[in-house]
Amino acid sequence: MRAHAHVDERNFSAFLNVLLFLSLSLSPLDSELKTDSVCVVLLFPSSQALGPLRLFQASLLFSTIAVAVAIEYYQPEQIHLAYGDSPNDIVVTWTTYSNCDSVVEYGVGGFALKAEGSTTKFVDGGSEKRVMFIHRVTLKDLIPDAKYSMCNSGYHCGSVLGWSGVFWFKTPPDDESKWSPFLAVYGDMGNENAQSLARLQEEVQRGVYDAIIHVGDFAYDMDSDNARVGDEFMRQIETVAAYLPYMTCPGNHEQTYNFSNYRARFSMPGDTEGLWYSFNMGPIHFVSLTTEVYYNFNYGMKQLVKQYYWLENDLKEASIPENRLKRPWIITYGHRPMYCSNDDYDDCRQHSTFVRSGIPFLKWFGLEDLLYRYGVDLSIWAHEHSYERLWPVYDYKVLNGSTSEPYRNPRATVHIVTGSAGCSERTDPFIPAKPDWSAYRNSDYGYTRIKAWNGTHLYLEQISDDQDGQVIDNIWIIKDKHEAFSTKDNIDSPPLNWT
Ligand SMILES: *[C@@H]1O[C@H](CO)[C@@H](O)[C@H](O)[C@H]1NC(C)=O
Ligand SMILES: *[C@@H]1O[C@H](CO)[C@@H](O)[C@H](O)[C@H]1NC(C)=O
Ligand SMILES: *[C@@H]1O[C@H](CO)[C@@H](O)[C@H](O)[C@H]1NC(C)=O
Ligand SMILES: [Fe+2]
Repeated sequence: MRAHAHVDERNFSAFLNVLLFLSLSLSPLDSELKTDSVCVVLLFPSSQALGPLRLFQASLLFSTIAVAVAIEYYQPEQIHLAYGDSPNDIVVTWTTYSNCDSVVEYGVGGFALKAEGSTTKFVDGGSEKRVMFIHRVTLKDLIPDAKYSMCNSGYHCGSVLGWSGVFWFKTPPDDESKWSPFLAVYGDMGNENAQSLARLQEEVQRGVYDAIIHVGDFAYDMDSDNARVGDEFMRQIETVAAYLPYMTCPGNHEQTYNFSNYRARFSMPGDTEGLWYSFNMGPIHFVSLTTEVYYNFNYGMKQLVKQYYWLENDLKEASIPENRLKRPWIITYGHRPMYCSNDDYDDCRQHSTFVRSGIPFLKWFGLEDLLYRYGVDLSIWAHEHSYERLWPVYDYKVLNGSTSEPYRNPRATVHIVTGSAGCSERTDPFIPAKPDWSAYRNSDYGYTRIKAWNGTHLYLEQISDDQDGQVIDNIWIIKDKHEAFSTKDNIDSPPLNWT
């Protein structure tokens, strides 16, 4: 647990010290005390008496009965970033436990600019109905190729097991076609046993990546312990997510209370509260999906149908020749894979995986046909706590570019499963016999790196945290042309009026 100046059970005793300190030393303020309450904003110096509560800004509500003290808490925490509607818009999101405004002061080399946003009250669905306030501020039209920071360098402290925060972020170059975005991608990272996190903190704070994609399953679970596990997780990832866009999709661990913790805490583009959306980075069109609508019918099937037609539209739009020329790579990510060869009984071990071939019996709304029809280059999944790379595959058929160079002009979508960032459920082993569509498998903790060098060359590598950051797998996907894998019209769409 990192030292955070926030108010909850864990440092309540520290607070009692503060209150004691206040009652002993703040007599000059007595005259300002009104009968019901008074708001005192203080900057605490670092001092022995205050222990871990350094530079602390608090507003204390004194009731006339000194024993029952309610504490208002305005300290921002759980700060994280996401792309807005374009890579030059950054959305800053954070949490407080009392209601207050949402302001970001920012700039290059100083806080010259100020942006205001919105504050939303979020009530967790658990028995305590805990209340928090989620703050969202969009920083629009940022200067290209800039580092937004107070000064040009910073420092961090800690150990190889975790680093503290200094906040800054970079913006993409002006000419997006000259941008070769570099991302870290993984799924299934929890609060407990987040083994890859320290390595990611080190790399992110050194400015290695442009963005992170977390392919579902957070915290284990965000709603647990009346959403305190979610708070703690968001504090942990602040050390990476406050420095670059941390893009997400929901997984099965987010489903409680209709995904409300997920929807409240993240700020993804579009109008679905982060359930599905797309965004662009240089030569890449990214599409984020929720696979949960295929497995979780508690909240109805409308969402499944909506997402399907949204996806078809989005892929159609991205495939318009002038769009595809500008952003040749179409990369999708969603939590539960279409293919996997793990030694468990998950859906991806079934031939007719729901997300791949559609809802049971009717076989409608399967997503693999869409990937094939619109020539999706790469599909990233997680959920299985391991790494698996597939040969180009469609409907269990391996469609290599050629036997000697399977990923040069592949004839189907390339899939990877990367869900071993680290969580309390540990890693998943594989069945001994590797299926012929599976190219490489590894159950080390780790994550994937992706770099789109340009419109023809995409590089992908797998990092093992167990092996001290070793690259254990890598491929180049090389494409002279990005287009539909099939021009055949024999793939049926489900009926439009179906709900
Ligand atoms: C679940 O949340 C979605 C919004 O994301 C809403 O449209 C839907 O009606 C909700 N379903 C239920 C059963 O509350
Ligand atoms: C695809 O390429 C790989 C690597 O060369 C090879 O091992 C595999 O047999 C190929 N599969 C097919 C169906 O051609
Ligand atoms: C694309 O990037 C690759 C890898 O860096 C490079 O070898 C290739 O020449 C580049 N192609 C163009 C057209 O710049
Ligand atoms: Fe999962």
